[in-house]
Amino acid sequence: MSIIDAIKARSSNGIMTDAAVSPEKIKQLLDAAVCTPVHHNTKPWRFLVIQGAGRQLLSDIMVQHSEDSKTIAQRQKLSQKAFRSPVIIAVAAAKPDGEKIRMIENVASAVAACQNILLAAPELGLSAFWRTGSFMYAPETASALGFEGGAELVGLIYLGYPKREMPPKSRETSEAYVRWLG
Ligand SMILES: Cc1cc2nc3c(=O)[nH]c(=O)nc-3n(C[C@H](O)[C@H](O)[C@H](O)COP(=O)(O)O)c2cc1C
Repeated sequence: MSIIDAIKARSSNGIMTDAAVSPEKIKQLLDAAVCTPVHHNTKPWRFLVIQGAGRQLLSDIMVQHSEDSKTIAQRQKLSQKAFRSPVIIAVAAAKPDGEKIRMIENVASAVAACQNILLAAPELGLSAFWRTGSFMYAPETASALGFEGGAELVGLIYLGYPKREMPPKSRETSEAYVRWLG
């Protein structure tokens, strides 16, 4: 499949089996993830692979720090979210050292790493989707997941084997979002 076709064919697929994903496959995805453009070669990508029983910590953080955690029903719903897939990769951008480098540039590169994972997953038979949520931006969340030094979370990438194929999505064309100069 061409790269353009793979980009157009990508879609979120949240219906996954509980089957574990091998460490080799996860490593293949992470090695693809770090192949992003990076300004000043800051190597800003930080990952936490959360799987199996490790998902309980994420679940607890979601319940504790989400803005939608007011009622028992809401908390129950939130507590299940970390168990939607066998693996979740939390992706963060490191805070840059020095004033010359802006955080937004590290975030941009970490975001590109997320997209690399989403695009690489189908080649390994995996489906993937990207989630955030208000809990991710609570000041305690990044350090509770072990991201230190002012790193900022940019996404949780849920990964697993799809229970079913997704029908192709009709995709927008770009005209409405583009201006041309010259
Ligand atoms: C930074 C980011 C955060 C997102 N967070 C959520 C989320 O918390 N909940 C959600 O339903 N979709 C979220 N999405 C959108 C989905 O991941 C998905 O891209 C969207 O539903 C479109 O579907 P598609 O991936 O099949 O094109 C997020 C997307 C991005 C880029």
